Amino acid sequence: MYVLGIESSCDETSASIVSDSKKVLSNVVYSQINEHLFFGGVVPEIAARSHLEKIDIVVREALSDASLDISEISAVAGTCGPGLIGGVIVGATFAKTIAMARNIPFIAVNHIEAHAISVRITEDIEFPYLLMLLSGGHCQTCLVYDIDNFQIIGRTVDDSAGESFDKVAKLLSIGYPGGPAIEKVSLQGNEKAFPLPRPLCNKESCNFSFTGLKTAVRIASEKCNSMQDKMDLCASFQKTVVEIMSYKLKQAIDVSCKRIKAVALSGGVAANQAIRSALRDICENHSLRFCAPPIKFCTDNGAMIAWMGVEKLQRGQISDLRFPPRPRWNLQEDFMNANYGLEVM
Ligand code: KG4
Ligand code: ZN
Repeated sequence: MYVLGIESSCDETSASIVSDSKKVLSNVVYSQINEHLFFGGVVPEIAARSHLEKIDIVVREALSDASLDISEISAVAGTCGPGLIGGVIVGATFAKTIAMARNIPFIAVNHIEAHAISVRITEDIEFPYLLMLLSGGHCQTCLVYDIDNFQIIGRTVDDSAGESFDKVAKLLSIGYPGGPAIEKVSLQGNEKAFPLPRPLCNKESCNFSFTGLKTAVRIASEKCNSMQDKMDLCASFQKTVVEIMSYKLKQAIDVSCKRIKAVALSGGVAANQAIRSALRDICENHSLRFCAPPIKFCTDNGAMIAWMGVEKLQRGQISDLRFPPRPRWNLQEDFMNANYGLEVM
């Protein structure tokens, strides 16, 4: 069984074909980075137009990379939210149209849920597991009981982890997107040069906060007179984020009360090697398995959407073609009535 997955909720147009035996036959990702570079952030209207321009090319390429004809696809999964609504509409409509034309099932996928289970593409990880989802749009820790059963135990009260990387990089003019730029520059910086605050790290809470840290970086940046100073500030910022993540993971492990045997990391920020290695060490110290997907499955990609399609199809969870694209769609929201058990029209 082959499922085509389509992702278009932010600034990547992606299509992928994944089999029920976890084989990723193709995963084509067209990144819009160059189109948003000038603005230092994603411009929703530009993103939507670009998705529209690229979607058919990306889907055709995914089929050709997989050496499959559209007639060999068993179902189409499409991101229906949360995300920038223009892009979500493009991808969801494209996915629904293929499903309708081929008379195959359509599966509406929640982008965050897809990140949450992306680890299962490459790892045989059993439920429940503890998930740290660290992306540009989301920053939360939850217990994953099943593909659609999540218990959120901590979330950001302001910015996401990815946003904090992006905003600090923009402030220091060191490149876009901010996460990879800061990680690269930090290698040449002194992480002890600037002491920075770790918001919400003296509380018994699993919640995150990043705006105070961002403000502290802005104030510290006024003292930067050279490129070396900027590199030192980046390194200090990244080290502080690593410390925050480490503290929050320990809190979450305590809260999970031995219900879990594994910790999974996901989202674009999970690509950060310093964060990965610090969290891996904590898991080792707690005798917990640590699973982080390969970086190509951490950042936005069609494979995680296709894989969620496989998992849902295996549980008979097919969506109505009238399923609406959603800018907001929380993990714990009850969408059972709108989503399950309906026949393809
Ligand atoms: O999951 P993702 O690709 O898109 C969303 O769903 O948001 O995450 C994008 C975010 C951006 O904020 C980007 O700066 C961050 O992930 N990111 C990183 C790294 N690579 C991407 N943050 C820190 N270190 C990285 N290496
Ligand atoms: Zn994402």
